[in-house]
Amino acid sequence: MKMSTLLLSLILAWTLSSQVFAQPHTLVAPILQHVGTNTTLYSITLNGGEHYIIDLDAPFTWCQCQSPQPVVGCNSGACAVARSYIPPSCPVNNTFTDSQCYCNDAPVNPITKSCAPSQSTYKDIVLYWTDGRSMVGAVDFNRLYVSCAPPSLLQSLPEEVIGVGALSWSSLALLSEFTDLVGQLVTKKFALCLPGSSEARGVTFFGDGPYYLDPSTDFDAAKVLTYTPLQRDPTSLGYFINLTGISINGKAMNVPQNGFNVNQSVKLSTIVPYTKLKSNIYKTFIRDFKKAAKGIVQVANVDPFHLCFNTSTMGSSIDRLLIPQVDLMLGNGEKWTIYGSNSIKQVNDNVGCLAFIDGGETAEQAVVIGTYQIEDNLLQFDLDQSRLGFSSSLLPNGTTCGSFNFAD
Ligand SMILES: *[C@@H]1O[C@H](CO)[C@@H](O)[C@H](O)[C@H]1NC(C)=O
Ligand SMILES: *[C@@H]1O[C@H](CO)[C@@H](O)[C@H](O)[C@H]1NC(C)=O
Ligand SMILES: *[C@@H]1O[C@H](CO)[C@@H](O)[C@H](O)[C@H]1NC(C)=O
Ligand SMILES: *[C@@H]1O[C@H](CO)[C@@H](O)[C@H](O)[C@H]1NC(C)=O
Ligand SMILES: *[C@@H]1O[C@H](CO)[C@@H](O)[C@H](O)[C@H]1NC(C)=O
Ligand SMILES: *[C@@H]1O[C@H](CO)[C@@H](O)[C@H](O)[C@H]1NC(C)=O
Repeated sequence: MKMSTLLLSLILAWTLSSQVFAQPHTLVAPILQHVGTNTTLYSITLNGGEHYIIDLDAPFTWCQCQSPQPVVGCNSGACAVARSYIPPSCPVNNTFTDSQCYCNDAPVNPITKSCAPSQSTYKDIVLYWTDGRSMVGAVDFNRLYVSCAPPSLLQSLPEEVIGVGALSWSSLALLSEFTDLVGQLVTKKFALCLPGSSEARGVTFFGDGPYYLDPSTDFDAAKVLTYTPLQRDPTSLGYFINLTGISINGKAMNVPQNGFNVNQSVKLSTIVPYTKLKSNIYKTFIRDFKKAAKGIVQVANVDPFHLCFNTSTMGSSIDRLLIPQVDLMLGNGEKWTIYGSNSIKQVNDNVGCLAFIDGGETAEQAVVIGTYQIEDNLLQFDLDQSRLGFSSSLLPNGTTCGSFNFAD
């Protein structure tokens, strides 16, 4: 009797202590939304208050630096990788001073597309561990490769931003840099949950779930993900998915065979504000959506959109039952549903527009999925298994991307 009580309390003590000392395996950082005159951008906050525009295509992170900075040697692997992405428009050699070779590269501004010769450095970055529910301790990453861009390269980016955070497939992107430094602890995946408002803080996770987005509920967004293969393109560091069709209220749009997916042509972007469809697809999409929305009163168009409605005629409930449902049909048989909250953008009182835009006749990609369509959705980029996890809108689950508990 006594023996078993002792055993029980030993097991209890061990369980408690292993809970206290359980090594977290997920990192967390806030995401802010920046509404500008021409576009809306999203930044990841590192080091407590440094905001970096989230870019899924950038080969490395860059920012405005305070001098002087630690030197990146010209023979380092990181220097070789960064220099392999120098655009032809920004030729730059490494520089020698006092027999020291300084690595130089050329970051690109994702909005203006301009580039600038820049000196690279190593920077210390503080991030937080999470148990999926709140922050459970800081971690100091020292010596992360960043490029020190001149202030002029920040043109057209929000004032409060100091640079661009790379979240691409590159080995110098943030995820690879973090996993390289903490080893097996963090699996090679990151999740983005873009906030639907500049008042809220969205969230990025590096590593596995659980992802409890709202501390007041037990809803784990990692549990509602559907997966589809994530594809690469030899000419880009970004992320592509295999889209085979689009349907509106369950009815497939009539798009020429292979109209979507010739040469990896469906891309994900955190820079493009509204999903862009190549002209031929866009025209059919507008026509079919208009047909499906016949119960809603159409009003004059508001730039840059081509189909606008009187929102007071859309039905009063939150789910806006009259708004046609858009489904992205994926190559593996799954579908990604886009509800009204991600398809109709309120542009002013009583006017909401179909928030998709015309990418032009000669668009490089048939479809670029933009940020309005992924706000308040959780997207998990799983680089280990080359797959994308997507939740669709979290609003029906009573959750948004803006409720994570960053307080403690
Ligand atoms: C880089 O170095 C090469 C060889 O010395 C030289 O020809 C070229 O002009 C230099 N380019 C720049 C941008 O300085
Ligand atoms: C907004 O776009 C217009 C026209 O495309 C351009 O002239 C203007 O400089 C842009 N403003 C900013 C802040 O980028
Ligand atoms: C697809 O890529 C291949 C190889 O790069 C190219 O030959 C072909 O023309 C491309 N097809 C289209 C429709 O762009
Ligand atoms: C929208 O409809 C409401 C109610 O029918 C009407 O009062 C309002 O003027 C309309 N607004 C626009 C912009 O058409
Ligand atoms: C996309 O999915 C379709 C349907 O499963 C398949 O036939 C096609 O080969 C896939 N394309 C790519 C590029 O994976
Ligand atoms: C989340 O919402 C979807 C759509 O309403 C529903 O099918 C699903 O069961 C919900 N999941 C949870 C865990 O609440």
